[in-house]
Amino acid sequence: MTAALLEVEDLHKCYRTQGSVVEAVAGVGFTLPFGGSIGIVGESGSGKSTMARMLIGLEAPDSGTIRVDGKPLERPRGRAARLERAKAIQIVFQDPYLSLDPRMPVGDALDAVLRLHTQLDRGGRKRRIGELLSQVGLGEREASVLPRRLSGGQRQRVAIARALAVDPRVLVLDEAVSALDVSVQAQVLNLLRDIREETGIGLVFISHDLAVVRYVCDETLVMQRGRMVERGPTRQLLDRPSAPYTQLLLSAVPRAGWDPESVIRLRRELERA
Ligand SMILES: Nc1ncnc2c1ncn2[C@@H]1O[C@H](COP(=O)(O)OP(=O)(O)O)[C@@H](O)[C@H]1O
Ligand SMILES: [Mg+2]
Repeated sequence: MTAALLEVEDLHKCYRTQGSVVEAVAGVGFTLPFGGSIGIVGESGSGKSTMARMLIGLEAPDSGTIRVDGKPLERPRGRAARLERAKAIQIVFQDPYLSLDPRMPVGDALDAVLRLHTQLDRGGRKRRIGELLSQVGLGEREASVLPRRLSGGQRQRVAIARALAVDPRVLVLDEAVSALDVSVQAQVLNLLRDIREETGIGLVFISHDLAVVRYVCDETLVMQRGRMVERGPTRQLLDRPSAPYTQLLLSAVPRAGWDPESVIRLRRELERA
């Protein structure tokens, strides 16, 4: 049997601050097949970003393993190991302003990534920059401008293009479309779908927005206070949730005839249980 693209086993991460201990992630695991996409959902503070940071190696788990193509990812030591790690998993954060250098034109930023991660010569890099920009629906014009001259949606596309420039096996998106206007969000979601089809990249899509997760993800994992409360095929999980916490998340989405009181009641019951 061939190994899955990404295998995450029993991750744990505690934070100790001034005498108190927070179990940010407590025993979360999943498997992502080639070209697959998994959603990680849960309310604020449920441990989603801690998962993301461990996946990309920004933080070491207390225990558990992460494997890409069957190969365990260790904490990278040295330049070669860091580059290899970057090739395995890339991330796009919620705020591209924080991750893009404000003084560097978009094309130069992509060029810097290609110089670091590929053997392409000048001409090859120029061609590749064109391809990457067109893959995320941007053109020549955007290559020459500074990030601040772009809209929020365009900046987020640049952040995605920059992650793709590394040619990673897995792309983690941590609330990457949450701050975008809905129409721009729809464009970026379509784009992710196309990229997945074209490249076979695996997506770990972190979001608190269940509607978005339904659109993007084959599988979904629900986290509550660091624990995995439910995992399964997205449609099944969202249409027939079995965990009370998933039911609560779903009941909290406003819709016709929605009663906020019922959500408050459900939460109270859950907390008593
Ligand atoms: N660097 C840190 N130091 C201490 N506690 C942290 C740190 N990062 C996250 N936490 C705590 O871990 C829990 C999970 O946080 P996080 O992973 O950011 O959740 P989410 O992304 O789902 O909102 C929260 O209780 C948060 O306060
Ligand atoms: Mg977060």
